[in-house]
Amino acid sequence: MGHKIAVLPGDGIGSEITEQAVRVLRALDLDLEIQTAPVGGAAYDAMEHPLPPSTLELAKKSSAVLFGAVGDWKYDSLPRELRPEQAILGLRKAMGLFANLRPAILYPQLANASSLKPEVVSGLNILIVRELTGDIYFGQPRGVREVADGPFKGERQGFDTMHYAESEVRRIAHVGFQAARKRSQKLCSVDKSNVLETSQFWRDIMIDVAREYPDVQLSHMYVDNAAMQLVRAPKEFDVIVTGNLFGDILSDEAAMLTGSIGMLPSASLNASNQGLYEPSHGSAPDIAGKNIANPLATILSAAMLLRYSLGATAQADRIEAAVQAVLELGLRTADIFEAGTRKVSTSEMGDAVLKALK
Ligand code: NAI
Ligand code: MG
Repeated sequence: MGHKIAVLPGDGIGSEITEQAVRVLRALDLDLEIQTAPVGGAAYDAMEHPLPPSTLELAKKSSAVLFGAVGDWKYDSLPRELRPEQAILGLRKAMGLFANLRPAILYPQLANASSLKPEVVSGLNILIVRELTGDIYFGQPRGVREVADGPFKGERQGFDTMHYAESEVRRIAHVGFQAARKRSQKLCSVDKSNVLETSQFWRDIMIDVAREYPDVQLSHMYVDNAAMQLVRAPKEFDVIVTGNLFGDILSDEAAMLTGSIGMLPSASLNASNQGLYEPSHGSAPDIAGKNIANPLATILSAAMLLRYSLGATAQADRIEAAVQAVLELGLRTADIFEAGTRKVSTSEMGDAVLKALK
């Protein structure tokens, strides 16, 4: 029996971009059982829930999920638990997807896309490993309460709770060290241990786990400095490991270094390498339905799916080489178009990648 892959296109450009990635997956000599299900606003419209039980079941029994994107302004007035974004949070939680891998690669053919100087970013290839299921995003208690004493006594106060359990830090540390081991043996752990107890604890555990990886060089950096260094000298980094909150911000910052959000894939993995793979960008409602979105981030996410969840390294390499080849041919969707290149549509870009696979 083939590997089960769940395809959840979602909203906006989601269906256009996942369609191209599925064409690419089907063109490989792999035994895949691909099934599609609604998610996000599209699922709310059809089934009154952004993550219908049938979609969640399909995802859970699959080896991997290929996810488009969810969200549209038209759902802004729904109660929070029915908004499209809840689908992605629900999938992360239900599947235990604690490790988010976001590469930021500047393809040599797209060197002009970055707003940074070429010498600062040319050849950039870094990986951010973000913890995805803990931290202040999920900490309890949270809410709005009345302040009992102190200078704000009697006022209403919004509050959240930041915490990390030892096992949570250990497992993301291992993901970081193992990724670093496969790359340049450099791992930078980012925290705010000068101010936060949670971060001091995080740093102590990182140092402890490092003893199992004598071949990897571990360094530490405060998050404010990391934000600065990512813009000043991003190539100093190779693999960054960090918590959920800091990782959210730094991974978006790193994405912008490359200047082409339409090119960046991501993976979210659990302990058994089951994963959810999606482009780093959102549902781009401004360009939906026009066949102009860049499908490459989703196609590259499909490559990550093969690499991390199916262990099909050679086929993943094939897809990545095909993407390089179409860029080399000068084909560009509108978001990465520049003078001297040829503008193509979403589906034409898919055609070109398929052709380059051969
Ligand atoms: P966005 O990433 O959807 O769009 C930002 C800008 O980049 C837009 O101008 C868009 O046209 C462009 N863009 C994005 N992807 C592109 C592609 N593949 N090709 C060409 N251009 C592309 O972010 P925005 O506008 O902040 O959010 C739109 C919706 O997406 C919101 O509802 C938001 O909540 C949702 N979103 C969903 C995510 C997910 O499903 N994981 C992640 C981020 C946002
Ligand atoms: Mg974000």
